[in-house]
Amino acid sequence: MGAVNDLEPYWMPFTANRQFKASPRMLVGADGMYYRTADGREILDGTAGLWSVNAGHNRPQIAEAIGRQAAALDYAPSFQMGHPLAFEAAGRLTALAPEGMDHAFFVNSGSEACDTALKIALAFHHANGEPQRRVLIGRERGYHGVGFGGISVGGITNNRRKFALLPHVDHLPHTHDPARNAWSRGQPEHGAEFADALEDLVALHGADTIAAVIVEPMAGSTGVLVPPKGYLERLRALCDRHGLLLIFDEVITGFGRLGSMFAADHFGVTPDIMTLAKGLTNSTVPMGAVLVRGEIYDSFMTGPEQAIELFHGYTYSGHPVACAAALATLDIHRDEDLAGRAAGLAGDWEAAVHALRGTRHVIDLRTIGLVAGIELEPRTGAPGARAYETFVRCFEAGLLVRVTGDIVALSPPLIVERGQIDRMIQTLRDVLTAVD
Ligand SMILES: Cc1ncc(COP(=O)(O)O)c(C=O)c1O
Repeated sequence: MGAVNDLEPYWMPFTANRQFKASPRMLVGADGMYYRTADGREILDGTAGLWSVNAGHNRPQIAEAIGRQAAALDYAPSFQMGHPLAFEAAGRLTALAPEGMDHAFFVNSGSEACDTALKIALAFHHANGEPQRRVLIGRERGYHGVGFGGISVGGITNNRRKFALLPHVDHLPHTHDPARNAWSRGQPEHGAEFADALEDLVALHGADTIAAVIVEPMAGSTGVLVPPKGYLERLRALCDRHGLLLIFDEVITGFGRLGSMFAADHFGVTPDIMTLAKGLTNSTVPMGAVLVRGEIYDSFMTGPEQAIELFHGYTYSGHPVACAAALATLDIHRDEDLAGRAAGLAGDWEAAVHALRGTRHVIDLRTIGLVAGIELEPRTGAPGARAYETFVRCFEAGLLVRVTGDIVALSPPLIVERGQIDRMIQTLRDVLTAVD
């Protein structure tokens, strides 16, 4: 690796640049469950990249599909032109989606998916003669990417304080309730009533001014908050009562993470709009999607046929290479039933993670599907420092974990083996025992 100065020009995202450049962690290769570092070490991937390489790394099937497509049709404009793979990808994706979610709009990231979903919600009400429905409701601790829309409805304070610009936004309370729900396995027992705060927001703003409610069915980036039993059902019922669209941001939960293809299937609650990204292409090529119910799509398909129904889209919407990657990824999901595999492993995963109870610094553990949140007691006067040190030491010990504040999140590729789960947990135990 070159001198530290060589690292200077790259302004890294969501990274402590100076700290990283002083002591870089460079990945140069990957295969299956492992990354390989510049100094030749193997790192067990406890996070599926960024919750996204669900089928494991460097799947030849996907790489070949990408190569073939790049050589056959490198790019096709997506405005007023089409190419077959985008239609095929939309068909395959909607066939997998919950009943009724039968149209797909393609984007290039989770952030774009969220902003697109919010715009579709506003435009839907406009098309239905209710243009005054402009208020967008998010949730505290929610993460919906880094576009101005997603940040405004999001509830991660560091994102919001500097960048939240949208007016007409409000937030539900988050559902984290460790006093009642600590050490939860699957959905926590208490807290369905957190959804009732939507009634207060309806009373405050007036139901006829609210366009949509957007939540992650399981909040990931904030440190794994699993919805309490009955919570999503109540949100659904309240949205129905007041004519609000319910948007599930499934950028993390999509493609098998919870042991079902989508969280909507897992929890048995179907939204009106769903955002996807990450696992859609196994993260090989940037791509996201917004799925909508048929009635939403149909409500746009009125007026003169030559009129563009939704004034929205990206140069790379439905990029041919991304579509090829998505189709190959969906083939792998079908052939290997990765969601079923995750469901089959979830019990062992839960037992292994909860065996960390009693380990130094651990004040809560929560698990669902192949996800774990491991909450550490913060160091006095230095929030996040203990978890960051845990992350660095795990990396040195050959394990990639992810940290948010003082919460360690694990979300391995769905191809993980039992022995690898044990290794992850043992490494964490050793590191937590050693960390101050
Ligand atoms: C729930 C959720 N929505 C949106 C995003 C943003 O996705 P991207 O980073 O691809 O823009 C993320 C990323 O972690 C996410 O977890």
